[in-house]
Amino acid sequence: MTADTLALLGGPKAVTASPRAFIRYGDAELAQLREALAQGTLFYAHGKKVKELCARFAELHGVAHCIPTSSCTAAIHVAVAALNLEPGDEIITAPITDMGTVLGMLWCQLVPIFADVDPDTHLLDPASVEARITPRTKAIVPVHMAGTPCEMTALRAIADAHGLAIIEDCAQSYLAEFNGKTVGTFGALSCFSINEYKHISCGDAGLILTDDDQLASRCRLLIDKGYDRSGLLRIRTTPFLAMNYRMTELQGAVALAQLDKLEGIVAHYRAMYERFHAAMQGVEGLHLPAETPGGRTSAWFYMLRIDEAALGVTRDWFADAVRAEGAPGGGYIPFPIYLNDIFANLATLGTSHLPYALPGVEIGDRYAEGACPHAEMLLKTCLNFSMTQGQTAELVDQYAAAYRKVAGYCLRQRAGG
Ligand SMILES: Cc1ncc(COP(=O)(O)O)c(C=O)c1O
Repeated sequence: MTADTLALLGGPKAVTASPRAFIRYGDAELAQLREALAQGTLFYAHGKKVKELCARFAELHGVAHCIPTSSCTAAIHVAVAALNLEPGDEIITAPITDMGTVLGMLWCQLVPIFADVDPDTHLLDPASVEARITPRTKAIVPVHMAGTPCEMTALRAIADAHGLAIIEDCAQSYLAEFNGKTVGTFGALSCFSINEYKHISCGDAGLILTDDDQLASRCRLLIDKGYDRSGLLRIRTTPFLAMNYRMTELQGAVALAQLDKLEGIVAHYRAMYERFHAAMQGVEGLHLPAETPGGRTSAWFYMLRIDEAALGVTRDWFADAVRAEGAPGGGYIPFPIYLNDIFANLATLGTSHLPYALPGVEIGDRYAEGACPHAEMLLKTCLNFSMTQGQTAELVDQYAAAYRKVAGYCLRQRAGG
């Protein structure tokens, strides 16, 4: 047995360092929560916490309006509903994302259409987006996955040429930049997640940004059963189909404390991501992620792709081997979003197949295997791990050593050594 012997085969682990201790929710969150409770109300329309959170988040982005929601899934539902599209209209989005990107579209009886991704950036390929536009297409929802911004110049040009709205899904991409502008400032509406797993968290909640006064008013009604809480009148009538997706003052309080930490967290994630990326350069058999030209990732997770033929092993074997070394690594979602039953088997409301059964809607092979070949290949061969505040330079260097060790073993086996 040598230092090169894989831990999976009884050798020593490449990772011996431990994560540094950090407190995610501490004194700052407690102080905010105390203040929220002392208000005597936890209702967003009466308290100050959610209002302050929204004011500060809008200011951070230089955007006129920020609307609070109970999750990013809710935020995207509201953003899509704010466009007031016709049932059966189509929205183009990415096939590699969280289900929260598309659920609200279906509840609005809109048809998600999936364009393929670039195999190196892993993000929506503008050429594929353009190829999927039909007379029914009304919007594009780019997902800045893993913290990496999409090619917004090309997507904006396509949207403008075809009169489409853009709703950015920024759930994973706080403070990511494209051409020097922060994501969340490119779309008519942009949606963020404050769930447990994101750069910042209050357990669960979401935020919508928009510069458009009318869209903002619609969003404000859509999150609160249609009730207008802005004036003294407190009008409790419902002008259109709305939801209750309100954020509480408790969520707002914790999110406010977390917002103070956001820049530091993003800086740490970026430093760890860039360090790992630099240490992984030139490893045969591994395709490292590419940044969108003009983009600056906010490094939510690191995703690379295994060349199974070059390494002579499967992605799952490689993942087991790096995990045995003590390094993180696993697949992302198991298959593209469109292979879930709600698409592939049109299993939506009862036996209705709505919205796919609406007159004029044709699904064809758009939810069939092969619809987005790059996305399918990527999800079968990717390995990813989240950046965390516990990671240190030493730990991340050892992760890279683990990946290099496993790749080196595979290549030697392939070469017959
Ligand atoms: C890209 C993306 N969009 C939307 C969502 C939905 O966010 P939430 O869990 O806050 O509803 C997530 C959450 O994982 C996400 O990663």
